[in-house]
Amino acid sequence: MANTVLIGAQWGDEGKGKIIDVLTEKVDWVVRYQGGSNAGHTVEIGSERYVLHLVPSGILRPGTRNVIGNGVVVDPLALVKELGDLEQRGVNLAGRFFLSDRAHLVMPYHSLLDASREQAASAKTKIGTTKRGIGPTYGDKAARTGLRAGDLLDELFPDLLKRRVEEANRVLGAWGEAPLDYARLLADCQAATAKLAPYITDAIPLLNEAIARNESVLFEGAQGTMLDIDFGTYPFVTSSSATAGGACTGAGVAPHRIDRVIGVVKAYTTRVGEGPFPTELTDATGELIRKIGHEFGATTGRPRRCGWFDVVVARYSAMLNGIDAWALTKLDVLDAMPVIKICTAYECAGQRLTSVPANIRQLERCTPVYEDFPGWQCKTTEATSFAELPAGAQAYVRRLEELTGVKVGILSVGPRRASTMQLWPLAG
Ligand code: IMP
Repeated sequence: MANTVLIGAQWGDEGKGKIIDVLTEKVDWVVRYQGGSNAGHTVEIGSERYVLHLVPSGILRPGTRNVIGNGVVVDPLALVKELGDLEQRGVNLAGRFFLSDRAHLVMPYHSLLDASREQAASAKTKIGTTKRGIGPTYGDKAARTGLRAGDLLDELFPDLLKRRVEEANRVLGAWGEAPLDYARLLADCQAATAKLAPYITDAIPLLNEAIARNESVLFEGAQGTMLDIDFGTYPFVTSSSATAGGACTGAGVAPHRIDRVIGVVKAYTTRVGEGPFPTELTDATGELIRKIGHEFGATTGRPRRCGWFDVVVARYSAMLNGIDAWALTKLDVLDAMPVIKICTAYECAGQRLTSVPANIRQLERCTPVYEDFPGWQCKTTEATSFAELPAGAQAYVRRLEELTGVKVGILSVGPRRASTMQLWPLAG
């Protein structure tokens, strides 16, 4: 299979884990390139359910090798736990899992600062973060005060950590938080290092040499385009590059090594946390979508906000990421709807907008322009080919393709591996 970037085209939780799991059947390597344990990919294999936060989903396919790239921020204690859980369930990691020595470390002070900032924020400025320390860790990276996975192996690590903890304790004190115990944190880090050391490596030659040997790579995006630090609904975003470009900087692979980009979109839209969401449904229909779609965060368990499919967002995402095909997920969640709405544009102060404005105050004032679509009101979950779908569901998919200008390459109508159809061959 070609080298592929797979990204979320909405606000995250599009069902990337499941699509990645299906695609990994054909790839040699799976790479995470941004985000941290704020992500939560759920994969169901038979009766087994796996929730992965840091480890790439390819770990569940025995023939696949998996890399956490330099663009990811890694909580070493959380990673040790995740790896331990996988090993306990019989997943072999030796020679199959690698952690870039350039990946930045999430330390307990980052999570404490994340939580303190959120707690001190007003209802209007609260971001609704996962409180996993993501923002403060990327903040330290940009401020050049971060610690990286490779530092864990350095004899100077105790000194580096000491300086960081002293500074963090001054900041935590200003937020009214108790200081962190350096000795205890060092001991925790050393225990984690003992487990992680065999996996920490320079992932740049590892990946580029694999590509030179014609091995295929799947770059697994986390979160979604509308949460991207540059292109999302800033400041209600995460702190990393969740768009396709992030794959190059977050993995150390050149742009011309990427062959294609697949964008994952749900047949409707969800968002967790605060921030503008033009097609949000705060009524019984939104509640119904949440219930049928089990729309609760994999990482925090928070109920997700639900709404109709937003073509403005999808087109923006297609343009930014250069999306070659959609992986359209959770079509079955709409099975019972008598009427389905598709947002084709926004109305804002008498103006019609067809692109996402940068200014979130403007976006908040936008009202969606809807096209009504008749529901098919029968089950799609058992379908194994496009032709087996009810005519209404087929028409809905075709309409989304028409409005977004991108074809649906993969269609998912249920959580199982078997409920995923490939509408055109992805091999090669
Ligand atoms: P942070 O990434 O924890 O800093 O959170 C920033 C924003 O991104 C919040 O609105 C979170 O709810 C959202 N977010 C972070 N990770 C995910 C994810 O994996 N899925 C959906 N939303 C996410």
